[in-house]
Amino acid sequence: MTFHYPFPETDEPLQALLQAFPDLLLVLKSDGMIVNYKEGEDTSFPLPIAEFVGGKFQDILPADVAIKFEDAVTGTLMTGKTTSFDFYLSIKQQTHWFEARLVSLAHGLLGTFIRDITTRKENEMSLRRQTDRLAALRTIDMATTSSLDLNLTLVMLVNQVRTQINVDAVSILLLDSSSQALKYAAGSGFHTNNFEQMSLKLGDGYAGRAALARQTIRIANLSNRQTDFLRSPTFSQEGFTDYFAIPLIVKGRVLGVLEIFHRSPLSPNADWLEFVNMLATQVAMAIESALMFDNYERTHAALTLAYDATIEGWSKALELRDRETQGHARRVTEMTVRLATALGLTEQQIVHIRRGAILHDIGKMAIPDSILFKPGPLDPQEWTIMRQHTSIAADLLRPIQYLAPALEIPQYHHEKWDGSGYPFGLKGEHIPLAARLFAVVDVYDALTSDRPYRNAWSHEKAVEYLRAEDGRHFDPKVVKIFLKMLKG
Ligand code: C2E
Ligand code: SIN
Ligand code: SIN
Ligand code: FE
Ligand code: FE
Repeated sequence: MTFHYPFPETDEPLQALLQAFPDLLLVLKSDGMIVNYKEGEDTSFPLPIAEFVGGKFQDILPADVAIKFEDAVTGTLMTGKTTSFDFYLSIKQQTHWFEARLVSLAHGLLGTFIRDITTRKENEMSLRRQTDRLAALRTIDMATTSSLDLNLTLVMLVNQVRTQINVDAVSILLLDSSSQALKYAAGSGFHTNNFEQMSLKLGDGYAGRAALARQTIRIANLSNRQTDFLRSPTFSQEGFTDYFAIPLIVKGRVLGVLEIFHRSPLSPNADWLEFVNMLATQVAMAIESALMFDNYERTHAALTLAYDATIEGWSKALELRDRETQGHARRVTEMTVRLATALGLTEQQIVHIRRGAILHDIGKMAIPDSILFKPGPLDPQEWTIMRQHTSIAADLLRPIQYLAPALEIPQYHHEKWDGSGYPFGLKGEHIPLAARLFAVVDVYDALTSDRPYRNAWSHEKAVEYLRAEDGRHFDPKVVKIFLKMLKG
């Protein structure tokens, strides 16, 4: 490739030098007018330079590239230094990237070297995409492994996926294996929420078909197909046009469907789809581990925490109402656990004893203020109601399977060793041990605290009372150990 026009004789060494470069080279005046050019060895540059000799280069460039070019011209002229910029041109649906380098030549002329850098750009972009994707997968991984709760995991997943692929809405439907139906489990980006009750038989609807066929389904013109999308009466208000249903499969098992919604057409290429499939795999794996966690760990960890928080909450609610008993539940719980330990009960038994102690008077929630806060003795009718607090507690707690083993204390803490207690009049060792322990602790703490109907007793007076009731109200063995515990 040689220059189109020969250089003046004095500039022949320059021409020979420039000849050595493989790039497309333009010689321009300072206003951009093309005065000479040499084609590059690679002839991909799509603009007809030959036809434009004598015209301004910027006039054949797309507007945005023309601006970059003019800036570079100004920069080169002002600084005398080489200036470069990257730009792309689309040729027959293909994008070619170029680098332009401008240098000052003699006689106020500018040289512009143009090189095809498409391969380098593609490598750079693919590297960046891969880095972004790895980061995305890592983020999802971190977000989900730190959560014990399935619902929380699902909410994080839909939000992550929506952010990572930059779409308007994402939902996850989970397959319920007993009913073989897909049920809405989490969503992000929706304006309406009627679909939250959605349940779709396997094979029905787009999502149902994607799950059954184990294949991604795309509906690119959703707005024209509202009849296929019956999930909610308000669905058309969402204004979605593009839709993907991607089955979530782990170890050959369909767990559900990841749905992607967009309010304008998406332009998915093979690359994008591959990324979406990677995300779907990640989502499926996160769901699988959350489901597994759900099955056993959760009952032992998250659920326990949640229930214990609930129990504390109830107990606090009772104390808020009955200011006199503030701290009572905590104190008796602490002492009962110590007493149970001293009596050699197992850790497992003590877990239930602790819960039962915290909740022992939860039934008083249902006792009217006029009785609970009465400053004097209760009349027989009031006593009838007051005595119900043990059965009320049992009724309240019995349906909670998890608390069933903790029921003994709330239900039997007013039974007495000699059979004169309530609600059943149980005698001796017919009274569960937990309740016998607790009764001693409860009465001791009640006596040494202020009550609406009397002031607190001294420690000595309370101990005297426990001794006097030893074998009547209380189990003698328990009193003995309790008094020893109070001393040491
Ligand atoms: P509480 O105040 O937490 O008392 C728990 C248990 O400690 C009582 O069960 C009783 O066995 C013992 N105790 C508490 N204070 C005294 C006392 O001054 N003298 C004696 N000897 N024992 C005492 P009990 O009797 O089944 O009462 C259950 C709940 O009924 C009490 O819980 C309290 O909320 C209420 N209550 C009991 N007596 C009265 C009263 O005279 N007036 C009012 N307003 N409420 C009462
Ligand atoms: C779906 O195909 O995912 C939804 C089906 C429906 O709403 O009819
Ligand atoms: C969904 O169920 O995934 C959302 C559909 C809707 O907005 O009705
Ligand atoms: Fe009680
Ligand atoms: Fe009590």
